[in-house]
Amino acid sequence: MKKIRDKRFVAFALLIFLAMAFQSVKSPKKNNAMTNDEKIEALLAKMTLAEKIGQLNMYSGSWEFTGPVPPDQGSQQKLDDIKSGRVGGMLNVLTAEGTKEAQKLAVENSRLKIPLIFGYDVVHGYKTMMPIPLAQAASWNLEMARLGSEVAAREAAAAGLHWTFAPMIDVSRDARWGRIMESAGEDTYLTSVMGKAWIEGFQGKDLSSEKTIAACAKHFAGYGYAEAGRDYNTIEVTENTLLNVILPPFKVASEAGVATFMNAFNDIGGVPATGSEFLQRQLLKKEWNFEGFVVSDWGSIGEMITHGYAPDSLTAATYAIKAGSDMDMESHIYLNNLEKLVKNGKVSEKLIDDAVRRILKLKFDLGLFDDPYRYSNLEREKKELLSEKNLQAAREVAQGTMVLLKNENSLLPIQKSVKNIAVIGNLAGHKDVPLGSWRAQANPNSAVSLVEGIKAAVSADQKVEYAEGYQLTTGTRDFLHELTFTDPNDRSGFENAIKIAKNADLVIMALGEDCYQSGEGRSQTSLELKGNQLELLDEILKVNKNVVAVLMTGRPVAIPTVAQKVPAILQTWFAGSQAGHATADVLFGKYNPSGKLPVSFPRHVGQVPLYYAQKNTGRPVTNTWDAGLVFWSHYTDMPNTPQWCFGFGLSYTTFDYKNLSVKTSPKKASVSVEITNTGKYKGKETVQLYIRDTHATVIQPIKRLVAFEQISLEIGETKTVKFELTEKELGFYHPDRRFYAESGSFEIMVGTNSEQLLKKTVEIDFD
Ligand code: BGC
Repeated sequence: MKKIRDKRFVAFALLIFLAMAFQSVKSPKKNNAMTNDEKIEALLAKMTLAEKIGQLNMYSGSWEFTGPVPPDQGSQQKLDDIKSGRVGGMLNVLTAEGTKEAQKLAVENSRLKIPLIFGYDVVHGYKTMMPIPLAQAASWNLEMARLGSEVAAREAAAAGLHWTFAPMIDVSRDARWGRIMESAGEDTYLTSVMGKAWIEGFQGKDLSSEKTIAACAKHFAGYGYAEAGRDYNTIEVTENTLLNVILPPFKVASEAGVATFMNAFNDIGGVPATGSEFLQRQLLKKEWNFEGFVVSDWGSIGEMITHGYAPDSLTAATYAIKAGSDMDMESHIYLNNLEKLVKNGKVSEKLIDDAVRRILKLKFDLGLFDDPYRYSNLEREKKELLSEKNLQAAREVAQGTMVLLKNENSLLPIQKSVKNIAVIGNLAGHKDVPLGSWRAQANPNSAVSLVEGIKAAVSADQKVEYAEGYQLTTGTRDFLHELTFTDPNDRSGFENAIKIAKNADLVIMALGEDCYQSGEGRSQTSLELKGNQLELLDEILKVNKNVVAVLMTGRPVAIPTVAQKVPAILQTWFAGSQAGHATADVLFGKYNPSGKLPVSFPRHVGQVPLYYAQKNTGRPVTNTWDAGLVFWSHYTDMPNTPQWCFGFGLSYTTFDYKNLSVKTSPKKASVSVEITNTGKYKGKETVQLYIRDTHATVIQPIKRLVAFEQISLEIGETKTVKFELTEKELGFYHPDRRFYAESGSFEIMVGTNSEQLLKKTVEIDFD
C-alpha cells in the first residue's frame, strides 16, 4: 500500500515539476522582473565613463561622518567625490550612524544613486573579540571557526558594514613575520579548510541577509613568504611552492564562493602581485572562474611605482587594471588616470566595464539597491554588540583554541585540594593584550584578564593572590606605533611576586608577548620572550616548583628553557574578550584542552622557517645528529626538530591509536584507525592523517596533512575513524599546472600530531 502511494506521489510531483518547467520556459521572468544581471547591464548602459571609474575607487574615511569634516586636507575632496559618484566603496567608516550618513551622501547626491559598499578589517571580531585567527586554527574545529566569524559578521553588519577584509589565508611558515597571528599557520590543508569555514561564517548562506557580510580572501598571493619574515618584503618562491603550498587555499576560497579577493603588497618573480596578470586575470578569473572582484591592498597600485615596476601613475593604473585589480584601495590612481587612459586608447573600456560589473554584482547581492541603509540599523547595533550570546560564543570558541604543551605530574587541571594560588605576571592582569592587534572596534582594556578569570573560577576556600612581577611595555600601545619595552633591569616587582609564590600551593605565571608585537608591520628578528620575564621565572622556580606557565603570544616563540624547567605549559594565544574565563575553564578542567598547534614551535629563531612538510633532501638526518657525523642536513649546535611539532597538543586524558588499516583499489585508499580514550577524563582528540608520495616526478614532502577529524571520547571509549583518499588528496600540481596523482608507493600516516604516527606503506595505481 505504502509503495503504491509513494509511486502516485512521485508521478504527481513529476507532473507539477514539468508544468513548472514549461511555465518557466514560456515566461522566464514573472511580472517582467529583471534578474540582477539584467539590472547591472541596464545600469552600466546609463553610466558615464567617469561614473564607472568612480565605482573602482575606494577611499578610507577614518573620521566620524556624523561629526565635523576632518581636518586633513584631502577629506573635503573625498566628501565631494562621494557626492559626485566618484567613489564606489569606503573603508574605515564606522557605526550604524556613521555608515548611514556616508551612504546618504552618495545616494542623495550622486546622479545614479549607486550605494557605497563599506569594508573594514573585521578579522576576529568587531566589538566582541574572538581569539586571533592563529588561535582559531589551533582549535582544528571548523564549527567553532564558523561560529567565530558568524558572530563577527553579525556585529559588523549591525554596525552598517557590508564587507570584511578577511580571512587572511596566506600560508605562514616564518614565525618572525608579525602577520602570522592573522593566518591559519604553516599548513596548506589546514589553511584551506579554516579559510573555507571562516568564509562560510562571514557570508552565511545568503549575502543579502542583514546578518552576514561579504568576505575577502587575502593576500593574493605569496605575502606570507616575506623574505626573512620582514613584512612587505619581496618573496622568493618556486612555481612548485606557489602551486602546491600557497595557492590551494585561495582556490578553495574561490570554490567556496568568497565574494572578493585582495591582492598583495609583495612582488613575485619581479612582478608586483597587484600587477600580476597571471594571478588575477589568468588564474583567478579565467581558470578558476571567480565571479567576484579583486580589491587592491592599501595603496598597492601606487606602490608598484616604488617597487620599481611602473614608472608613473598612468602606467601603474594600466598594469593594475589589465592585471585584473578591480578596485583601488586608497592609491587614487584609478580615479586620476583611468579616464585619460581609456580616452587615448591605452586601456579598453571593456576592462573597466568588467570591473564595474563585478563590483555592482556584489552590491546587488548584498541587497544595497533594495535598501542602501539596510545594514545601518541603530537598534540592532545596540542589541547586537557585546550581547550575552556573542560573549558566550567568544568564550566557547576560545576554550577550544588553547594548546596544552606540557603537563608533568598532572599538575593540571587544578584540583580542589590546591588552596593557595599565586597568579604572577603583567600579562596575567592585562585586560588589553588578549584582544589582539587586529581588534576592529574592541573597547580598549575590555578583555577578561587571566587573574579575573581565575578569581571567578575558584571555589570559596581557594585563595588567589596576584602580583604583577614584571612589566613588559611602557608608553603608547596602539595599532600604529612601535612599542617601547620596559627596562629589563627594573626588578621592582620581583620581591612581591617571589613572596606570594613562596607561600602558594601553585603558581600560575603568565608569560609571552604584548599583542602589538605581532600583526601588520610587526616583524621581529627574535622569538625569545622580551624583558625580564624569564629571570623572574627562574626566581619563582627557586621558591616553588609547581608552576603553570600560561603563554600569551601571537606567534610561535622559542622558549627552550621554559619547556625544560616548567612542569606545565598552556598556550592561550590572544584569546579575545573572554580570554580569562576561557583560560580558567581549561586550567580548572571545566574544559579539557583539545587544541593542536597549527604551526611548529622552534627551539631557536635560527631554525626558521621551520615546518613539518619538508622535503627529505638527499642527506636527511636519521637519528645520527648526536652520533657526531657532520655530513647531514643538520645544525652543529641544535637538532633540526622543533620544540613542539605541528599538530601537537595534549589533553588531560590520553588517547591510544591502534589497528591502522589501509585498503587500496585503483585510484583510492580507504583508511581506518581505532582510537581509545585510555585516561581519566572525557576528551576531544583530533585524528590527523598525513601522506607521503615516496617517489614522484616532483619530490613530495615527507609528510603532508590531507585530512583530520575531531572526535569526542568518553573514558574508556573506542571509536573507529575512517578516511577515503582519492586523487584529490594524493595528487599534486605538476610543472604544467595540471593536477594529478602518480602511481606508486604512498606512506599513509595517522596519529595525534605530525610526529607520533602509525604508518602503512601501500601501492596505489592511478594509470
Ligand atoms: C593590509 C590589509 C588590510 C588593509 C586595510 C593593509 O595594510 O595589508 O590586509 O585589509 O590594509 O586595512
